Amino acid sequence: MTATLAFDIYGTLIDTQGVVEELSTMVGEAAAQVSRSWRDKQLEYAFRRGLMGRYQPFSDCTSQALDYALALHQCSVTARQRQQLLDRYRRLPAFSDAASALQQLGHAGHRLWAFSNGQAAAVETLLASAGVLDTFDGIVSVDEIGRFKPDPAVYAHFLKRTAATAESTWLVSSNPFDVLGARSVGWQAAWVQRSAAVPFDDWEWSPTVTVERLDQLVTALPG
Ligand code: 2OP
Repeated sequence: MTATLAFDIYGTLIDTQGVVEELSTMVGEAAAQVSRSWRDKQLEYAFRRGLMGRYQPFSDCTSQALDYALALHQCSVTARQRQQLLDRYRRLPAFSDAASALQQLGHAGHRLWAFSNGQAAAVETLLASAGVLDTFDGIVSVDEIGRFKPDPAVYAHFLKRTAATAESTWLVSSNPFDVLGARSVGWQAAWVQRSAAVPFDDWEWSPTVTVERLDQLVTALPG
């Protein structure tokens, strides 16, 4: 059985903590905490804007979340350093298992799509700098409809853009909020549990399959 695979980007294929090294040259030991708060607040801003109906591109959520995270941890950086961090965020590293997993899944005949809150141009830059852009059939960004995950509208938009059906579409994500959103509208979903310390939320939906690494997907998905 070949499926349409919708790959979440930030935190699933791309490591958002890849910015810690650059941050530590600016804020020292606070870097890991600032990076964690940056990611958490970036998502919170997307959730808030979705609920408020006040969409702004994910890049705005990212830059405003950086400012908040620095203030929260009483860190300050120069305007130039701030721009350096945002530039780094545009070229975050892929997880080490991403390229081989995408290759295996493409060879197995699955359709591979990038599916992200990030604007298409930002996702393209990330995938190109990670050297995996050409393994994808295309990119679907929520920016096309001005809504954020896990709004049901973004999953419906993905199906429309890719001419796929819910039954034959698998979300691949390390973000439980995204997995819950996809499962709640009838998709299949593979949760990439990168850390055993991170439990899945005990809601009325659960992942179809759970893997620890992307390169376990080719055997975890039904043949
Ligand atoms: C995404 O890439 C935010 O991780 C989420 O859509």
